[in-house]
This record gives sequence, structure tokens and C-alpha cells, in this order.
Amino acid sequence: MMMVPTLPETAPFSPAQRAWLNGFFAGLVSSTGSAPSGGETVAVATPTMTEEESFPWHDAALPISKRLELAKDKPVERQMMAAMAQLDCGACGYVCQTYSEAIARGEEKNLTLCTPGGKETASKLKELIQLRIKPTPGQSEESAATAAPSRIPPAQSTHSRKNPYPARLIASNPLNKPGSDKDTRHVVLDLKGSTLSYKPGDALGVWPENCPDLVQEILELLHASGAEDVPAPDGQHTSLREALLRDYIITQPTEDLFKLFGQPEAENVAVIDLLRQHARKLTDLAKFVAALSPLQPRLYSISSSLLAHPNQVHLTVGVVRYNSIHGTPCKGIASTYLSQGLRPGQKARVFVHASAKFALPASGDTPMIMVGPGTGIAPFRAFLAERGAAGHKGKNWLFFGDQRQAADFLYEDEIQSFQSSGVLTNLSTAFSRDQEKKVYVQHRMLEQGKELFEWLEQGAHFYVCGDAKRMASDVDNALKQIVAEQGGMSAEEATAYVAKLTKTNRYQRDVY
Ligand SMILES: Cc1cc2nc3c(=O)[nH]c(=O)nc-3n(C[C@H](O)[C@H](O)[C@H](O)COP(=O)(O)OP(=O)(O)OC[C@H]3O[C@@H](n4cnc5c(N)ncnc54)[C@H](O)[C@@H]3O)c2cc1C
Ligand SMILES: NC(=O)c1ccc[n+]([C@@H]2O[C@H](COP(=O)([O-])OP(=O)(O)OC[C@H]3O[C@@H](n4cnc5c(N)ncnc54)[C@H](OP(=O)(O)O)[C@@H]3O)[C@@H](O)[C@H]2O)c1
Repeated sequence: MMMVPTLPETAPFSPAQRAWLNGFFAGLVSSTGSAPSGGETVAVATPTMTEEESFPWHDAALPISKRLELAKDKPVERQMMAAMAQLDCGACGYVCQTYSEAIARGEEKNLTLCTPGGKETASKLKELIQLRIKPTPGQSEESAATAAPSRIPPAQSTHSRKNPYPARLIASNPLNKPGSDKDTRHVVLDLKGSTLSYKPGDALGVWPENCPDLVQEILELLHASGAEDVPAPDGQHTSLREALLRDYIITQPTEDLFKLFGQPEAENVAVIDLLRQHARKLTDLAKFVAALSPLQPRLYSISSSLLAHPNQVHLTVGVVRYNSIHGTPCKGIASTYLSQGLRPGQKARVFVHASAKFALPASGDTPMIMVGPGTGIAPFRAFLAERGAAGHKGKNWLFFGDQRQAADFLYEDEIQSFQSSGVLTNLSTAFSRDQEKKVYVQHRMLEQGKELFEWLEQGAHFYVCGDAKRMASDVDNALKQIVAEQGGMSAEEATAYVAKLTKTNRYQRDVY
């Protein structure tokens, strides 16, 4: 008789995860006719199954064909990940890894959420699902996809993207001072009474709502009261006002909306710009709503530690504002919601997006080098608060940069307290606009290359958070230059040194 393997009670899983995994192994035995080697019990390293796993396709510079080639022998969720644009931009409300895992688990049905990957990604995802799922007669492709076993255990909290927790806003306070060109907010949400838990390095998912003033302007242009019945993204029906507030993106137009108005697609045009020109031609409200994109949650790096602030979660939010090509002032949906829309006492729908690859070192004695300009400071405030509250003895070095010291030194008082209490060993700042020539964090790294390399040689972990477009690659180049110069290595040897840091989880990035 075939023995069905079961996880030992000591395995690091919640009861729900253990039950799910045991079911998965039972399914595996019945489908393959053989038990995984190792007898009746199975040792699994971590609940997220990502430890020591590398993602060679996770490089946005590679073409999709090459990425898929690199993942071709991997499980389906990794092939799906390789089909994503690899930007971890969060436009889908996940990062590339977690979006593909949610699809593989059957939790996420929408295959078109990877905006930068566009149609190419969506059609590859569909193909992968079709290859894997052969519906039995009478079963739809979608239900077959849901029924298929995934190798990823479900999330632990009772709250999730699909079942967010309504967290009360305690405060949303400006971090910049007068004279700043920026609006960055310190957002504090109340988790008291919830089962939500997080660790430094995790992100918070926030389901935003659109600006009510913009909703009102759209209703007026459509000559609608808001009570009209329209389809919601989940196939149910809702009122037009509710759909515009909570269900759809009403800032950036889709290709379908341009088509609906018979307009060629153009960059940086707002939905309201199109409506001002074409709303009178519109006869069918359902068609208008169907041409909008469903609203997705946004991710924010958590900037607090539960040890320092039990029952709270803090975020560091840069408010997005710009003008459309027609001069219309545009606001980022979630950053505006968290800074102005949501009032203290009101509740935002949130969930924890756990990060397997961005976390404190296992030992509190390990030195850390953290590079976090602008809102990139967020996870490092959490790291320092956790290390301070836990009494960890490891050395900590923060590189922070922003435009002007007098107006943009985010969390200046707290950073100084971390220094005076000894939690923060080294602080290097780069205020780019306080002098004629720009000074950035990577310039400070290069100036202090000798000590930085010594820290690396002592086993330091190197972290980067913030802008993905330019800063992250400039910092990466500076790191390689330091390793080459201080370690007396060739460019190839320095690249291999840095690659080894990545492989051993000592070089971690949370960039967006
Ligand atoms: C893992 C992760 C962690 C993150 N952590 C943080 C964090 O700690 N703090 C933080 O502030 N953000 C963070 N972000 C970014 C955050 O998720 C949102 O993307 C950001 O707040 C913007 O969302 P929004 O809804 O306000 O803007 P949206 O409504 O999504 O608008 C943004 C879009 O507006 C357009 N746009 C913006 N500026 C211009 C311009 N000048 N001209 C023309 N078009 C423009 C672009 O198309 C851009 O994609 C993180 C993202 C990820 C993936
Ligand atoms: N995905 C999204 O929708 C989204 C939304 C919000 C923010 N973001 C990203 O998050 C980043 C953080 O935004 P933020 O406003 O807090 O800070 P930021 O724009 O990154 O600015 C912080 C500091 O970094 C400097 N900087 C500019 N280019 C740099 C480079 N190549 N290398 C190193 N430093 C550089 C800036 O200098 P100067 O400005 O003087 O050049 C400034 O002093 C943004 O750049 C943006 O890309 C993304």
C-alpha cells in the first residue's frame, strides 16, 4: 500500500498551511503514484519555499524569450513569473513573484494585470495556464485552473488581498518642511484587534479609493446622477458613483477608452481630458465603465516595527502629482487617498504583502549597510526600530539622500536619536540640491569605499530601497566599483563578488 507523506508537527507551518501541504502531497502521490523520496515525513525548508532559490530571469533587460528559456525547467509559477516584465513595479498590486504565485494558486484570475508586460505577458500566461490545465468535459478552463494543485502554500493571515483588513487611520502627517518641492507623508494605521502581523521588510497592500471631487466632475460631464446601474469588475452590478469611487481607474485611460472615443492613443492624457472633449458623444454608460481598468491595490514598504509600535503599521508615502499634456492637474490615486482622501478615524482596506527576499539578517550581530534615498528610507526606519527595540548589537550604516537638508531630511529627529542611542553607527547623507553640483548616495558610498568594503568583508548585508529607474543601478555600479578598487579585483571579479552577495542573500533590493 502506498504511504501518503505527512509533514512533521514541528515543521514551521500554521495548522492551515500544514493541512494544505498534506493535501498537496496526498494529491501528488495520487497523481504520480509515488511518494516523494524520504519515506513518510517530508522536510520542507521554509513556508515560502524561496530560500536559496534564485531567479536568473528576474532581469527586466532580458527579452521575454530569454527569460522563459531560463525558467523552462522550473515549476509553472516560475515560468509565469518569467513571463512578467520583471520590474516589480507594483502596478498589478503584487510584485512579479507574488502575482505569478497567486495565478498558480488559482486566487488571481486576471491575467492582464502586468501593465509593462502588456499583451505579450498576458498571452504567455494564458498559454501556460492552457498547457497545464486540460479541462475535463463540462469543466470550464477557469474552474480547472482553480482546482489544479499549486506548490505554493496559502498565506497565513486571515486577512489577504481578497479579504483586506479595515485599518483606522490614526494620522497622515507631512514629513517635508516649508521650502520643499515634495510632499512625503508619515501615515499611521491602527491594527488593534486585527490578526495582521508583519516583519521589517514586508510591504502593506492598500486598496485605494479615487478622489471624490474627480468622481463628481466625471458624473457631471456624463450628465449622470451616480445612481445608474453599471457592471463591476467582478461581474456583479453596482452604482456608477460606487464604481467610479472604488472599482475602476479614472485617472489614466486605457487603449479601449481611446478606441471608444475614436482617438489615437497618446501619452500623458487623463481620462478627464478625454471626457471633456468626448463625453457628449457617449450614449452607453456600461460601455464607458467597461473601457476602464479595474483598480488594483498599491504596495508600500512598511516603515515601522511591531516591537517599537505594537498594533500599528507606519508608511512613508511620496504623494504623486503631475500635469497631463493638456495641463490638467493629476493626482496619484493611492498616495492622494492616504495623504488627503482618508481622514483620521476612517478606515482603509489593507493587507500584508510578506517579503521573502527583503529582511533583517538572521543574526542581530550581522552588520547592515542600508541605502535608502527619498521614500526608500521606509524599510530602514523599520529595521533600525526593530534592532533598537530588540537590543541587537550589529553595526548599522545608513545612506540617506534627498533634495534639501533643511526641508527634506525625512525622520531627521528619529535618525539623530538612533545615532545617539548607538543603534545607528554611521550616517552618510547626500542632499542633491544644496550645492550646484548634484551629490547622490552613490557618491557618498564611493567617498567612503574603504570602510564600506571593510564592512562587507566583515559579513555586512547590503540593502537598497527606492527608485528603480536610475538610483538602484547607479548604486549597483558604485558597489562594484568599490569592490574592484578596495578589493584589488578586476571588473569581472568584482561582478562575481557582488553576484555572490546576492546569491547568499547578503545583497537585497526593494526598488519600485
Ligand atoms: C514593493 C513596493 C514598495 C513600495 N513602497 C513605497 C513606499 O514606501 N513609498 C512610496 O511612496 N511608494 C512606494 N511604492 C510605490 C507605490 O506602490 C505607488 O506606486 C505610488 O504611491 C504611486 O501610486 P498612486 O496610486 O499614488 O499613483 P498612480 O495613480 O498609480 O499614478 C502613478 C502613475 O502616474 C503616472 N505619472 C506619475 N508621475 C508622472 C509624471 N510626472 N508625468 C506623467 N505621468 C506621471 C505614471 O504613469 C505612474 O505610473 C512601492 C511600490 C512597490 C512595488
Ligand atoms: N512606481 C511608482 O509609481 C512610484 C511612485 C512614487 C515614487 N516612485 C519612485 O520612488 C522614488 C522615490 O521617490 P522620492 O520622491 O521619495 O525620492 P527620489 O525622487 O528618488 O529622490 C530622492 C533623492 O535621490 C536623488 N536622485 C535622483 N537621481 C538619482 C540617482 N540616479 N541616484 C541616486 N540618487 C538620485 C534625488 O535628487 P534630485 O531629485 O535632485 O535629482 C533626491 O535627492 C522615485 O524616484 C520614483 O521613481 C515610484
